[in-house]
Order: sequence, then structure tokens, then C-alpha cells
Amino acid sequence: MNILAEKRILVGVTGGIAAYKSVEIVSRLVKAQADVRVLMTEAAQKFVSPLTFGAISGHAPITDLWQLYGGEKIGHVALAHEADLFIIAPLTAHTLARLAQGMADDPITATALSARVPMLLAPAMETNMWDHPATQANLAKLKAWGAAIVGPEAGRLASGATGVGRMSEPEVIVEHARLILGKTGPLSGLRITITAGGTREWVDPVRFMGNRASGKMGVALAEMARDLGAEVNLVYGAMTVPPPMGVALIPAERAEDMLNAVMSLLPETDVLISAAAIADFRPVTTHERKLKKGVGEEIRLERTPDVLRAVGEKRQELGMPRLVAGFAAETNDLIANARAKMAKKNLDMIVANDVTATDAGFGVDTNRVLIITRDGAVDRLPLMSKEDVAFNILHRIRGLLGTPSIGWDPGAGSVLS
Ligand code: CTP
Repeated sequence: MNILAEKRILVGVTGGIAAYKSVEIVSRLVKAQADVRVLMTEAAQKFVSPLTFGAISGHAPITDLWQLYGGEKIGHVALAHEADLFIIAPLTAHTLARLAQGMADDPITATALSARVPMLLAPAMETNMWDHPATQANLAKLKAWGAAIVGPEAGRLASGATGVGRMSEPEVIVEHARLILGKTGPLSGLRITITAGGTREWVDPVRFMGNRASGKMGVALAEMARDLGAEVNLVYGAMTVPPPMGVALIPAERAEDMLNAVMSLLPETDVLISAAAIADFRPVTTHERKLKKGVGEEIRLERTPDVLRAVGEKRQELGMPRLVAGFAAETNDLIANARAKMAKKNLDMIVANDVTATDAGFGVDTNRVLIITRDGAVDRLPLMSKEDVAFNILHRIRGLLGTPSIGWDPGAGSVLS
């Protein structure tokens, strides 16, 4: 499942130095299997050749209002009607002003006026131009009309000066595109809280007890849930991957912090998925000063709170979450141990994986899991990317919630057994 696959995305490039970064935007979208059509103003062609965009997107860019599209159609009308999203990056102060005026004298403004699709604008200009009341008024108008704006960021500008005005990085713009396209997805309306990463229990100011969790599975779940339209809270501990955009981020370092964060989110959580590796033990004492040799040779441990167990008890009273899913990391007797955990923690679903496998589980990008549900069903998924595992988990959760999944299409790349 890839929200960008087969989406028709228009990328308008206007005449700013950041036009070279738009090549990277197009490349990322094409790699994600989007069908990308580029439109360029005359000024944009002074910065980057249409040939470059043509080679990367596989389609000659529309550079002229009078150019027929596909040999016969009126470019701006046909493109506008067939698109799912219109990105303009970079967006200069000049084109921003013309959009705000409803002008239509180049392929980008004409298409923007004809299009009834979400617009994602990535302005880039000198700080004074950005700060000017004219630009800000134009921007306010476009926002009021429903356009999403990404950036500009602060940093070094083309003039050598430093200030606000740099176009956002291509990956950030592409992430925003995913967010916009996912909003109406099959999980829209659901609030999902996910725990990810590993906890740290402190021995002293420099030492902690941690674990091998990378956070990859939890982050893949958060990104996929977001792309499918859910409102996502990510409660996260130590991770080797960056937390995703477009989800509410709640850092939680210790098991106790995870418990507090999750419990406070419960009343507004429809679905809880606990993918975090939460410590079962912590030092009885966290020393204020670094332990000296000979003093800390014996560390006494005590149990940490079990987050899912606490949720299991509270959910009866609250009526929320509607569904709780946990993970079971096991080294032996996978199904039996996972089933016992599901019962003990009052879960509706448990995702079990054998952590002794080298190609699945901790730290790697793939996983081989079993999805076990309360009704006793066991789905054995083959080795697949953590994104596809995330998709399969969410697909089943949607099914268990029992609401018809309008527009749900497992799509390419998912393996449903
Ligand atoms: N979990 C939890 N609170 C803890 C420990 C784990 O909520 N203190 C959650 C994990 O996020 C996971 C599930 O419980 O979803 C199972 O985690 P796992 O470490 O496999 O099981 P444990 O409960 O720790 O049981 P055991 O150590 O006996 O295998």
C-alpha cells in the first residue's frame, strides 16, 4: 500500500533558484509510482531545462499555455480535471500574487484556476518579499481558499543572506503530499494511538537499561495509519529512525512515562497499538550521581507497570479504546505464548514475531509476523517490509471494527493471506 501510487500529481515549477530542488520532488514522486506531470513558467525554464523534468517524469513538461496535451487536449483544462493533487514548488512571490488575483496567463495559473483538487504550495523567496504585506495578504487569500502551504524555512538564501524564505526540502514537501492525499482514506475518523521504540530505565545520570528496539515497526504503523487517513498519536521512546510528520508526537522515555502518556490519551483513542518494547524491570533506585566502581556492582530491580494490562483494566470503565492490539516478541512457542499474552492483557489482537530470526524483528526493515485475533484466527504473513506488515495490521483492525471500509483497496505491495 502506497498512497502515492497511481496518483496523478501536477508539479508546477516557477522561476526561483529552488527550481533545481523540484527535480528531486518529481524524482521522489515518480519513485513512489505517482504519475507526475510537470508545468513550468518561462522563468522556471531559465533555472532548469524542461528536458530534465521530462526525463525524470517520463512526460514532456507543459511550458506553454498554447501547447496541446497528449496531442489533442487543451493542456490546462485536461490536466486540471485528471489530477489528484497540484503542487507548486517553488512558488515565487510573483506567481503567488497572480494566483491570488485569479490570473490565468501561463500554464500554472491557468491550470490552478481550472483545478478543483487540493493545492500544496511551497513558497520560496527573499525574506523581505515574504514579509511584505502584499505577499502575506496574497497568501492569506490562498489559505482561505483551501490551499495547504509548506514552508518557507529559515536558512541561507540565494542572495547569501540568512532569513526566512528557503523552500522546504523535497522530502518534506513529498510528506505533505502524502498527508493531503491520505486525509480521505479508509481510516479517516479513527483516532489511533501507537507506542514505538524502546524504553530506558536509568541507573544513574549516564547509564540506563534499554533494549534493541529501533522503533521501525511503530513508525511504519504511524505513517501507514496517517496515510490511510487516521488521526495518529505516537508515544515514542528511544528510536533509531526519525519520528514521522503529520502525527502528534509524545516522547516517553521510561515505562512509567509510556503508561502516563497512554492513559491520558485513552479517552480520545479508538484504537491502541502497542509496538514499543517496554521494560519489564527498572532499577529500584536511580542514583543522582554517576556510580563509582565498586559501588554499583549490584543493581536491584523492581517491576515496571504493564501498560497494556493497565489499559485492559481501564477500558471496561471508559468504553475506550474500541480495539487494543499488542505485540509479542518471542523466542519460542510463538503461538501459545502470544495467545497467553493476549488473554492476560485483554487484547483484541496480538502480532507475534520470532525475535531469533535475523531477517525479521529488531532493527531490520522486514518482519515476519503472525496476526492472532481474539476469535482464535491465526494469519501467518510471509516475510515483508514493515510498511506492508503495518498495512496488513491496519487492514485487519478496520475489519475487526466492523465498519464498512469505503474505498478500501489493499493495493499493490500488500500480501493478504
Ligand atoms: N508491554 C506493556 N507494558 C510492559 C511491557 C510490555 O504494555 N511493561 C506491551 C508491549 O508493548 C507489547 C506487549 O506488551 O505490545 C508484549 O510485550 P512483550 O515484551 O512481548 O511481553 P511482556 O509483557 O513483557 O511479557 P514477557 O516478558 O513475559 O514475554
